[in-house]
Formats: sequence, C-alpha cells, structure tokens
Amino acid sequence: SQRKEIDDTLATFALSPTQLQEVKAKMRVELERGLKKDSHPTASVKMLPTYVYRTPDGTERGKYLALDLGGTNFRVLVVKIRTGMRNSVRMYNKIYAIPLEIMQGTGEELFDLIVQCISDFLDYMGMKNTRLPLGFTFSFPCNQTGIDKGDLVSWTKGFKATDCEGYDVVDMLREAIKRRNEFDLDIVAIVNDTVGTMMTCAYEDPKCQIGLIAGTGSNVCYMEEMNNIEFVEGDEGQMCVNTEWGGFGENDNTEDIRTRYDREVDGGSLNPGKQRFEKMTSGMYLGEIVRQILIDLTKRGLLFRGRITERLKTKGIFETKFLSQIERYNALGLRSILQSLGLDSTCDDSIIVKEVCGAVSRRAAQLCGAGMAAVVDKIRENRGLDHLEITVGVDGTLYKLHPHFSTILKDTVRELAPNCKVDFILSEDGSGKGAALITAVAQSQAIDKY
Ligand code: BG6
Ligand code: GLC
Repeated sequence: SQRKEIDDTLATFALSPTQLQEVKAKMRVELERGLKKDSHPTASVKMLPTYVYRTPDGTERGKYLALDLGGTNFRVLVVKIRTGMRNSVRMYNKIYAIPLEIMQGTGEELFDLIVQCISDFLDYMGMKNTRLPLGFTFSFPCNQTGIDKGDLVSWTKGFKATDCEGYDVVDMLREAIKRRNEFDLDIVAIVNDTVGTMMTCAYEDPKCQIGLIAGTGSNVCYMEEMNNIEFVEGDEGQMCVNTEWGGFGENDNTEDIRTRYDREVDGGSLNPGKQRFEKMTSGMYLGEIVRQILIDLTKRGLLFRGRITERLKTKGIFETKFLSQIERYNALGLRSILQSLGLDSTCDDSIIVKEVCGAVSRRAAQLCGAGMAAVVDKIRENRGLDHLEITVGVDGTLYKLHPHFSTILKDTVRELAPNCKVDFILSEDGSGKGAALITAVAQSQAIDKY
C-alpha cells in the first residue's frame, strides 16, 4: 500500500541502538587516527590544533575587535572585557551580508569586502584611529601552526572563493588591509567558531571544555591532552583540538547508514564526497535531504498528486528555519507554510511532509549525539575517570530553533555515554566574545613565554 511505501522510505532514516553504538565506535577510531602522527595528514576527522591551551580564568581584560565569518551572519564586533567579576563584557556589533557571488567569487574580492565592512564598522563606532587587537572567528578548517597562523584546508558549507585554499587566512586578511591602506590592525588570533563558542561558555562555566556547533555546518572542539596530540611539540597540559568531525565518513566507513537521498544531496553540493557527516547533520543540508525525499515520493505518486512543481525542483527552498517551523505546527498550520513555499498540498500531504522532516532531523540529532558520546568518553578515559562531569557550550540555528533536535541529541548522549554526565549550555553571545577572550588569553600567553 501507499502507507507502507512511505514507511519503508522513512525507515531507512531510523537508526537502531546498535547502529548508533557503531557510529560512536567508528567516530572514536577516527578521533584517534586524527591525533596520530602517521594518520593525521590523511584523516577524515582532521583534528586540527588550535594553539588555545586553556579556557578563560576571569583575569582577561581589554578592548578587542572581532570578526565572525562562516555562519548565517557575518559580524564585526567590539568586545570590552573588564576584569574582576565575570559577566562584565560589553559588545557592540553590526551584521553585514555577504552576497553569494562574493562567497563564490575570488578570494581577493571576499577579503576586500571583509575589510570594507571593518572600515564601515570602525567609522560607525568612531574608532578609525585606535589600533585594536583583532580575533578572527573563521569557521572553516584551518591548518594552524600558531594562534595567528592558519592555512585554509578547504572551504566547506556555501563558500568557494578562488585562490584561498592552502593559503594563510591571516596573511590574506593582512594583505587586504594593506590594499585598502586606510587603517591598521593587529591580528592576534584565528579562531574556529566551535572554539569561540567553547570559550564564550567557559567564561561562565569553568566545566565547559567542549564546543559544539549545530548550525549551517556541524562541528566539535574539545580540550585534549598535549601528550595525545602527536604532531604538536610538547607533552605538558592541554590544547583545544578542532575535530572537524563534519568530514567523518569521507573514508567510506559510514556508507551503511547513508541513503540514496544523502548521495543525491552530496552530488549536488559544492564539495561532493566531502563533509559527509556534516551533510547528514547540519542545517545547510537537512532541508535538501527533505526535498530529495519529497521529489522521490512525488515521482512515485505518493505525494502532491504526483506533480513535481518547479518550486520543488528549486535547490535550497527548505532552510533550517523551515524544518523547525514545520515540526512545530499542526496540519492546518503546515498547509499554510507549504503554501507560502508555493507547494499546494492536501491535508494528507502536509502530514507526510512533517513525517519526512521528523525522520531527517531525528537522525541528524542522533548522529550528533553518537559523535558527542565518542568525544566525552574519550575525555573521560584520557583522565582515567570512571565518571566524568562536563559541560558542552553550544551554538547554531539548528540547535537553537528546532523544537526536538536538542532533546534527541541529549537523550542519545545519555544512552551512549552512561558514565558521563553531560550538560549543554547555550552560547547567547555567539563566538565573537570567545574570539576576544582567546585574543586576551593569547596576549597573556605571549607574555608568559617571555
Ligand atoms: C553564531 C556564532 O552565533 O553561530 C558563529 O557566533 C557560528 O561563529 C554560528 O558560526 C553557527 O550557527 P549558524 O546556524 O549561524 O551556522
Ligand atoms: C563546517 C566548518 C567548521 C565549522 C562548522 C560549523 O563544518 O568546516 O570549521 O566549525 O562548519 O560552522
């Protein structure tokens, strides 16, 4: 029957407890492989060093400029941190749009636009002549060799500007500032958004030693023991590692759980074959998976009276926002959402669409949970503990807006890592604040060294 056909399709998205255990176990293997000298260069989970050796301790202070590029919004911020009590951070920020043709144009155009936005912001703040230290949250994989040095490994998500991959991001920004020849900045730190988020949250809660982004992209960082990071000098203390877990599966070890719809979405993306875990778990792709399923069900005559409209063929119509809305509504509300997207549906149709969204987002949350279980158990074992209490700082529109994602994620972590008590706290201030804190920590580290 039709019902059975739909159920069978959605069943390919249901993961059994055993399958989730397997995902956790495989993620654990990849985390280890990424840390070993021999396997690091080719690892699917890149495990990038960040040169952030500790979370904030409350002694940070100063006035910083921060950039936040790579999520939904591009932001320029001024962050003022006063010492003494925590919570004494003031922020001023402005959001700028990065047009698609710039995201996918030349690197020079992209960095020129970034500097133009900084210039506008400094004018707006009346700060053109104050040379502030800058922390740059740049939410892409960077091969860092220092806190202020990082070569872009590859673009991910919606970016694909030319002549950037393999080049130092800080150099590209410095050169663009020179080209404009209007103001000067000290670029002190380059920061992944996961790290910025962890630092923002750690400022409030010292138990926070993990950063999670469930937004446009999906990624995690955590505090690792230096002696486990084989490719970085030194054995003392800890360093934050940017896992880039979005790449999990690039070595074909998750093919058993990928569906034909995942392959379709991958094939139509800017980076086919790459970021396979990210493409099953993050906001930029979940709507696309839903769209592929809806197209297939329609082709099979199970939906929309078998009519595939131009609208349904349009890439990117289902943003994260849509998935979140649709799972909140009842049948009546659903139909009006679908209508606003130009999709004429019957009542039955709208219920099927909701089921599709539910299956896709549930799997995403479970996969993130399985990955997180691997991370917390690793930290627990690192420390030789039977029981670990730890906090994860989280940001991202998927986590924040979706009605069930965070609950399913937490439930999954509880089931798969029963020896860890994991708290999740939301970053209210984005990772700009974290970038400023890292810049402050980096300046104090530099002082410690000399
Ligand atoms: C923001 C952070 O709040 O969340 C960014 O400041 C981060 O650094 C972003 O990239 C992630 O969420 P999204 O959904 O905008 O990709
Ligand atoms: C992508 C990027 C990663 C970032 C994540 C969340 O996975 O590669 O660096 O942290 O998106 O924005």
